[in-house]
Amino acid sequence: MLAEPIQAPPSPADAIIVALDGMDPEAACRLARALPELRWVKVGLELFVAAGPGIVSRLQELGLQVFLDLKFHDIPATMAGACRSAARLGARMITVHAAAGGRALAAAQAAAVDAAQEADLPVPTLLAVTVLTSWEADSFAAELAIGEPLEHYVPRLAALAAAAGIAGAVCSPHEVSSLRAAHPAPFTLVTPGIRPAGSAAGDQRRVLTPAQAIAAGASHLVIGRPITASPDPAAAFAACCAELA
Ligand code: C5P
Repeated sequence: MLAEPIQAPPSPADAIIVALDGMDPEAACRLARALPELRWVKVGLELFVAAGPGIVSRLQELGLQVFLDLKFHDIPATMAGACRSAARLGARMITVHAAAGGRALAAAQAAAVDAAQEADLPVPTLLAVTVLTSWEADSFAAELAIGEPLEHYVPRLAALAAAAGIAGAVCSPHEVSSLRAAHPAPFTLVTPGIRPAGSAAGDQRRVLTPAQAIAAGASHLVIGRPITASPDPAAAFAACCAELA
């Protein structure tokens, strides 16, 4: 069964997903409460493992939509079970590794749809992770013995995921325009590596501003430290929204 696509964000705040990295559950909820326009948060492995599934409900009780970024990669039955559980939690976006293969991706997608419908919850959008940007071309080829260049391997995995019914992907600023050309809307493209003009790139190698990323075809932006580490997170969030307005 096909995924239920997330519609194009109607307002700037709907396009921005704030990554709640490096904080405990109390700090995560405090930050969320400090951003009145906030619609989306990303819960990654660090926060989820520390806080447990209850953090998803707590954030939802604050009126937020949760992107559960746990990057599932396993055999088909386990991928299906994990996505079923994540959908029952009410997560609205869930990451899965495309390298798990077409059968596992299709099983994950079907399980997420079934579980959400059974629980009368919105059907989440599964997002394919292709190649982690921490890989460099040389070590990727040598350590994994994959001969195909990275720039071909990424679109290959995205196409594999789309063919399995996955309705979106996470992509770096390097990849967003070419993936958008291959996967028109309503395919969801979520892009991290976003830095508002004037903010430090930090450990991100290639960055786009919020407006550049949307112009390149991103449907949603993941923004972490430029907001969460700002002395005034509400002002930083508002500035990102203003840039997109
Ligand atoms: O703080 P910053 O804006 O760099 O946070 C970006 C978020 O997106 C982090 O949660 C990070 O793990 C994630 N991410 C990334 N680059 C990728 C994939 C995910 O920065 N290629």
